[in-house]
Amino acid sequence: MKKIIIASSNSHKIEEISLQIFPYFETILSLKDFPEIKEIVEDGNTLKENSYLKSSALYEHSGIASLGDDTGLEVDFLGGDPGVFSARYAGEKASDNDNLRKLLQKMGQTKKRSAIFKTVISFVDGKNDFFVEGVLKGEILKSPRGTNGFGYDSIFYLPTIGKTLAEMSIKEKTLISHRALAMENFLKEIKKIF
Ligand code: IMP
Repeated sequence: MKKIIIASSNSHKIEEISLQIFPYFETILSLKDFPEIKEIVEDGNTLKENSYLKSSALYEHSGIASLGDDTGLEVDFLGGDPGVFSARYAGEKASDNDNLRKLLQKMGQTKKRSAIFKTVISFVDGKNDFFVEGVLKGEILKSPRGTNGFGYDSIFYLPTIGKTLAEMSIKEKTLISHRALAMENFLKEIKKIF
């Protein structure tokens, strides 16, 4: 039974999530193992809806328990934007770098730089479906720092640690990140099921 699909083809996410769940599952698959699924359109209005679109698509296709995650960066100065639109902030086909540049441009020199990363994780196996979330507080820098990670990692600074997420190793990030916190909550629920 202990088989799971991570409903993502983002290698960074797969690595981060696998690091935390590998002791609990015998087989960990990802969207990359199902090339016949071309694209999961993430057109939900909330992180919860998008995360469910991913996990339910994989479960319905395979009959195997599936985990979907959706993450948004919510910036106070921008009234919570880009939020659910984080992946396409600079347009439908925008790269991580395009999105990050647009965000820095919108922020300008403002002193109000507080932000959160929020991850919602959904689990679908046809009988024990559930959602959990994780939140990480930080600040948006005026220019990128660090080369690890992906997405907005290089501008998301943690004052208590003195580093951006992109200046941390994957192991360090996995101890404190929004996704790691959501995954801890995920594992609490999984332990109740198994
Ligand atoms: P999604 O969850 O893959 O839809 O990601 C939404 C957006 O947030 C994309 O632009 C990602 O690059 C970005 N993102 C997701 N997770 C992280 C993270 O852990 N660090 C930095 N950016 C992230």
